[in-house]
Order: sequence, then C-alpha cells, then structure tokens
Amino acid sequence: MATTTVVLATAFPVVGRLPTVRSDSAALPPGNGSIPRYKGQPISRRREVLGSLRAGVAVDKIVAVPSRSGEGKLGAWTSIRQERWEGELEVEGEIPLWLRGTYLRNGPGLWHIDDYEFRHLFDGYATVARLSFDQGRLVFGHRQVESEAYKAALSSRRLCYREFSEAPKPASFLAYVGELASLFSGASLTDNANTGVVRLGDGRVVCLTETTKGSIEIDPETLETVGRFEYSDSLGGLVHSAHPIVTETEMVTLLPDLVRAGYTVVRMEAGTNERRVVGRVECRGGPAPGWVHSFAVTEHYVVVPEMSLRYCAQNLLRAEPTPLYKFESRPESGSYVHVMCKASGNIVASVEVPNFVTFHFINAYEETDKEGRITAVIADCCEHNDDTTILDKLRLENLRTSTDQDVLPDARVGRFRIPLDGSPKGELGAALDPNEHGKGMDMCSINPAYLGKKYRYAYACGAERPCNFPNTLTKLDLVEKKAKNWYHEGAVPSEPFFVARPGATEEDDGVVISMISEKNGEGYALLLDGSSFEEIARAKFPYGLPYGLHGAWVPKKL
Ligand SMILES: [Fe+2]
Repeated sequence: MATTTVVLATAFPVVGRLPTVRSDSAALPPGNGSIPRYKGQPISRRREVLGSLRAGVAVDKIVAVPSRSGEGKLGAWTSIRQERWEGELEVEGEIPLWLRGTYLRNGPGLWHIDDYEFRHLFDGYATVARLSFDQGRLVFGHRQVESEAYKAALSSRRLCYREFSEAPKPASFLAYVGELASLFSGASLTDNANTGVVRLGDGRVVCLTETTKGSIEIDPETLETVGRFEYSDSLGGLVHSAHPIVTETEMVTLLPDLVRAGYTVVRMEAGTNERRVVGRVECRGGPAPGWVHSFAVTEHYVVVPEMSLRYCAQNLLRAEPTPLYKFESRPESGSYVHVMCKASGNIVASVEVPNFVTFHFINAYEETDKEGRITAVIADCCEHNDDTTILDKLRLENLRTSTDQDVLPDARVGRFRIPLDGSPKGELGAALDPNEHGKGMDMCSINPAYLGKKYRYAYACGAERPCNFPNTLTKLDLVEKKAKNWYHEGAVPSEPFFVARPGATEEDDGVVISMISEKNGEGYALLLDGSSFEEIARAKFPYGLPYGLHGAWVPKKL
C-alpha cells in the first residue's frame, strides 16, 4: 500500500504534556498528482477542496491522555495512543463521488488510568472517530469524548465513577455508605458515553451509553465535546436503551423501570429535548426488568423485548464484578416480547418466547395477509443462542490472550414471529443457516430507508473460525438465505455501516464502511460495495485504532 501523507501528532507519554495537531500545509499531500483521480484537476483546486475539508479544525482544549510505551500490538484491544489526531488519508482505490458526509464511530478507546488496567471492553473511555468523505477524498480524525468521568479520571488519576465492570474503591466504610447513596441518586454512575452515536433530526449529534446521564453532544466536524445533552422533561430514569430509534422527525427509546419492573416507551421530537411518554410495558417476569440494550420498531409498533437476563440491583451495588456484571440470569422467569401501538401506547400483543440473549435488534416489520391486515410482527436480532457467557468473553484479558482459540459463542440471526391474534406464545428461530456467517454475528446495520419495513439485507460482523471475536464482515441476504463474507487474517473489523447512494432504488445500492484493526497494531478504513460486497477503497490510518462499537452518518450540508 502507498505510504500515508499525514503528519503524526506528537505522542505524549506523560500526563500534562499536550499533543499537537498539525493542520498546516506540511500536513497536506504533496499535490503532485499522486492521488490518481485528481490528475485532471489543477493543484490550486485540490488545495481549495482540501482547505474546505479542514475547516473547523480546532487545536485548543486538548486533554492529555496517559500513554505508555510498548503499545501497538493487538490494536483492537489497546488503548488509543493519544487524545486526538486529524488529517487527510491517502486512498487506495476509488471513493464514489456521491459519498459526501461524515461517518462517525463511537466506542471505548482508553482502558487504563496510569498503571490501573480496566477489565472489560465496555469499561473504556469513549473515543469518537470520524471519516469525512467529499469529492473522493477522505479526512480522518479521532478525539476523546470529554465526559465528567473521563475528565475526573485524568485530573485525579483514579477511577471516580462506576463504569460497566469497574467501581471506585471507597476509602472507608463511611465512604462506602456514601457511595451507595450516590448510586441510588445516580450521582456515582458514569456518564462515559462510549457506546453509540446518533444524529438527531435537527442535526445535533449525541454520543450515548446506557446511563441516561451519559448522553453527550459533540460537534461532528471537530469532534469537540459540546456538553451534556440535558433532557428537559421530568421523566428521570437512571438508564435507558443505548440504541434509540432515530428518524428525521423523532427519537424513540425505552426507559427501564428498576423499581416497578417495566419499561416506559418515550418519544422526543426533533428540535426538542423533551421526552414524552408513549406508553408503559409491565414486565411479566421478575423481579427486575430484562436488560434492554436495544429494541425494534415497525411502521406502527414498538417491539419491546423482555429477556430473562435481568438487571440486578445487588450486582449494581457490588464493588467487584460478578460473572454477569450488573445483570443476573433468571431463566425461570421467562422471556417475553411486547408490542405497543406507537399512536395509542396500547399493548397489542404480549407473548412468551423461548429464552434468548441479544444485545442488538436488527430490524422489524409487519406481516400482512392477502387482505392487507396485519397478522404478526417479525423482529430480527443478533441472538447468542441464549448463552450469557458472551458478556464474559468480552473481558479484555480474554480478547487479548485467546486469539488462537475458537471460543466465540455461537450466534445467529434470531427471528421472532409475534402473532397479533391473541396467541400466548411467539416463535423464535434462525432467519438463515448460521453456518453462512460462521455461526457468529453481531453489530448490524441496514439500509435506513427500510427501518421498520420488510427488508432483505443486513450487514454484520461474522466469524471465520477459529476465533475469539467476530472477525469478518458479512452481508446477509435474508430472502435467499445466503451470506457474502469479507475476511482478512488477523483483522478485527468494526460494525459495517451501510450508506445508501442518493437516488438508489435497490436496497443494497450503496457502500459499507468499516474500520479495521490489524493484529500488528495498524489499521485502515475500508469501503465495500453494498451490492457485490467487494472492496472498492481503503485508507491506512496513521496508527491503529482500538475496536469501536457503533456509528452514524452525517450527510454533508450542500
Ligand atoms: Fe450496542
């Protein structure tokens, strides 16, 4: 591959030294036609284009991240090497000219404070990366999200808030009592928004995690932290789904009720900060609501899952993690799927289903009969064969050490069929043979135009065995029940994100974006054709990025 034309920011090995971000002409490509598709353009035009891409670069308010020597191997599970970097990447291949906008990816990127190592993938402090595409060129950047939890850890050099598996160590019994009190008020919960990122219909971009306070607005161009996204209503709630359903007009999400086991379905109109109640689901199992990382919607309904893997107040209070962290498995409590009418908030179906384990729903749609009456709801998810061990497999020690072992639990596209005729039970099966995607799959995206509608394609991470983590990109054809797979030995790809070509009429007419972490510590952005699933472009990063979770697309303002 051709060498990059970027200039690395200075790595900063000790706290207190600030990195530099080069945005001057020294960081520019040589402008000698080395990027083939620009051969027909005068150099002045190239610089003009590049100048516009660089608009908005800010170099102030940089927070130093503790770095350490010897990092770089197993890039996916290694802390980001510096707080921030930005520059243009040299592209190998062709970026479609219609692809104009910014792909944002959020995820845990820093797993230590000084010499203290975090244990779990989900503990890391949020790192947002961006890929900005314009006229065939690509600008890359990454930056830490400046949550209170992150800033407090940097300034005090210790853990100050409860992360997924980590809890601050109280200095005394009295401090422990105070810690419990602050847990109930939510004060000690983290706001480390390290899971997802969404673009609201009004254009604001918000990073999210499962704590409600962990909703943090960022600037999609500079990645600068704007501030906490404050909900103006009085609904409260310590936790919410990490994956709201966001459209141009609204955001719909679930608020689990940990006291009276249930879920409140809420809607927030674009342009507001006020969530309004759509309706409430009473849990049928107990004693706590099932963990709800994500859910699904159809055109008319909200699909609310109730897993037998349930929130656990005792585990939330513990200072040391349990095998299921803040959850507990209650298979005897049963699993359910509830279907709520979006317009009325009424429950139109509540059925028992086989026990299941899922982080991520993929999509849902309505099944109709010949007369057009809705007979059932179909909901697809990344389902781990009701195996809760997937949570423990995501401990960093496991990810870093079991690279040659086939220890990734099996997974499938779990397809629910929820009848709307009053039947007490729903069905759960595999939407296609799991061998098509290596019996591993998670981290899905679809063409957003098919949200809530009957669809054919999903893009996910799959498995090439043996592996300890999803290591392929897979295009799932849920009609032909076939998969196309992309695989590179030793690579860990992040969630494949589909961006449709403007004006497209075919569901898979677009590109798929992923960021690849290589085993030698390097990494690159990858573009696949949404239809053929063949590579069309890649661009090497100045250094590898840690594994990231979920993304969003911000179209360029024209
Ligand atoms: Fe997620």
